[in-house]
Amino acid sequence: MKDKNKDDHQLSRLGFGGWQLGNADFWGEMSLSEGVDLVKEAIKEGIRFFDTAPGYANGMSETIIGLATRDVRQSVIINTKFGHTADGKTDFSVSSIRREIQASLGRLQTDYLDSILLHNPSHEILKGETKHFDELNTLKEEGLIRAYGVSIDTYDELEMVLDHLRIDTVEILFNIFFQKPAGLFKRAHEQGITLIVKVPLDSGWLTGKYDQHSTFEGIRSRWTKEVIERRASLVGDLKALTGEDALTKFAISFILSHPEVDYVIPGIKSKKQLFDHVKNVQSHLSLDLKKAFIRLYEEKIAADPLPW
Ligand SMILES: NC(=O)c1ccc[n+]([C@@H]2O[C@H](COP(=O)([O-])OP(=O)(O)OC[C@H]3O[C@@H](n4cnc5c(N)ncnc54)[C@H](OP(=O)(O)O)[C@@H]3O)[C@@H](O)[C@H]2O)c1
Repeated sequence: MKDKNKDDHQLSRLGFGGWQLGNADFWGEMSLSEGVDLVKEAIKEGIRFFDTAPGYANGMSETIIGLATRDVRQSVIINTKFGHTADGKTDFSVSSIRREIQASLGRLQTDYLDSILLHNPSHEILKGETKHFDELNTLKEEGLIRAYGVSIDTYDELEMVLDHLRIDTVEILFNIFFQKPAGLFKRAHEQGITLIVKVPLDSGWLTGKYDQHSTFEGIRSRWTKEVIERRASLVGDLKALTGEDALTKFAISFILSHPEVDYVIPGIKSKKQLFDHVKNVQSHLSLDLKKAFIRLYEEKIAADPLPW
């Protein structure tokens, strides 16, 4: 699933996180037409990689990406997932894979997926103890999918994958506040895995726009007052280290300073955010700041990890 046309240009490593598309319940209002317009604008700006899932906004995220990409299908890369269905069910059964992929293909208005990921699967699956990858191999041979892999959250899960599976793609939670998986990136790269980084902004915190008084709705209402205060304090540390209030460019360039990372996929909710990323992705992180971010993680987070 690596982008064969990829050049050294940083923009080719910037993907579009599609969880927010049309997702009023979790991320706030966005209509179908606003979503389509946003994805079309992203394509115009040169973004080629789109991450989505059937469970995002009950299929609406896939529908939006399908409508926006159908006229340029060959020039984009679409990565969707399996395991959480468009009607809100969790279903990882092997016998459902083909049917669910066909449903995704319908919403995405295409006859192939560049990549499909098992969407936070069980450890049994990650240890290769099930038939999921046999079925995915069959679908790959038939041309319905071009690559497959898993979307996972932790170092331990990544280690399981590297020990037990032979897959094309891994999507992993990694950012300045969640650095542990980086210890396995080299191994993943050596196994030929395309590495996608999700949640690069710590769900928005690493933009620098929230503080201890911020309140959250939807999926982010999970944070307690203590968690918000701790994150706000860490954001304050980053502002002191960088000397800037706007942190997005540091968050993204920290991730892209890891050469094994193929794509970073911030969740994008507006054209303003889109243009911001397209501009910021050109900036490189100094080695001194990279070391300072690693030190911050080691001193203040590693021993007591933040909840997602
Ligand atoms: N299990 C999985 O497979 C899984 C889990 C999580 C995410 N993902 C994928 O990874 C993508 C990214 O993760 P995420 O969306 O959870 O977290 P994220 O990218 O760390 O944060 C997204 C949030 O950051 C803010 N933001 C983004 N760009 C901005 C900008 N330029 N300026 C200011 N604010 C900006 C927005 O917050 P506001 O809403 O406050 O504006 C946005 O909702 C998702 O869209 C999805 O495709 C996959």
